[in-house]
Amino acid sequence: MSDDPLPTPSPNPASDRTTARTAAVIPAAGRGVRLGPGAPKALRTLGGTPMLVHAVRAMADSRAVSLVVVVAPPDGAAEVKSLLDTHALPERTDVLVVPGGESRQESVKLGLDALPPGYDIVLVHDAARPLVPVDTVDAVIEAVRDGAPAVVPVLPLSDTVKQVEPAAAPGGPEPVVATPDRSLLRAVQTPQGFDRATLEHAHATVTGNVTDDAGMVEQLGTTVVAVPGHEEAFKVTRPLDLVLAEAVLARRRLNDGF
Ligand code: CTP
Ligand code: MG
Repeated sequence: MSDDPLPTPSPNPASDRTTARTAAVIPAAGRGVRLGPGAPKALRTLGGTPMLVHAVRAMADSRAVSLVVVVAPPDGAAEVKSLLDTHALPERTDVLVVPGGESRQESVKLGLDALPPGYDIVLVHDAARPLVPVDTVDAVIEAVRDGAPAVVPVLPLSDTVKQVEPAAAPGGPEPVVATPDRSLLRAVQTPQGFDRATLEHAHATVTGNVTDDAGMVEQLGTTVVAVPGHEEAFKVTRPLDLVLAEAVLARRRLNDGF
């Protein structure tokens, strides 16, 4: 009985193509100041393998991901390229390496600028989250394919959160001004997934300091949806996180029976 001449156009071109090709941009250009002195964070090893290699493999483990763009420390692109050449990746995955910038935001933009045509879905994944399971990666891609222009993996918080006023002197007591309802708060992880045009538009227009890519998309008024993240997608930020990451790898080796 329908006399609709045409289907309603989709707001998200990526959702039109269940076969849409997916690329992952991995910002890896940070120093890792909070981790303490040593090599740039992405090049520090976990279980003998550089964190960046774990992160690239985590993206390449998804059958949907056919290109990984690694954003290397500004003076370290050649080193990163040869490092990746010496570590096996699936045949189906191409890798590009580009030099990064001063801020994470700038590094992601440089990675996006290097993306060839033909990729309609883009993941942005921190090199500092080397152990994200492939099921989480696939869930993010799936939600973009289902029509969401921007998708973030999240976890509920285990700590109660307080809003404070800055202390009068560094390290001094901070007046607490509010206790947000924890049940409505989520901690955000990566990979974050996007319809490519949405992400490119955000990076071309949003200025100011934003700590994640979905935050830029939110500033455009575009809907961002959250899907369940995973505790193993934690960010290696401080020395204790290295201990946890080594423990997760040891448990995986045990479960795999070597
Ligand atoms: N990153 C980047 N370019 C920068 C800064 C950060 O590509 N100029 C990347 C990091 O390499 C990391 C991700 O952004 O994979 C998340 O940043 P974060 O965990 O803060 O890493 P660092 O900035 O390296 O750490 P720190 O803030 O402790 O120096
Ligand atoms: Mg940082």
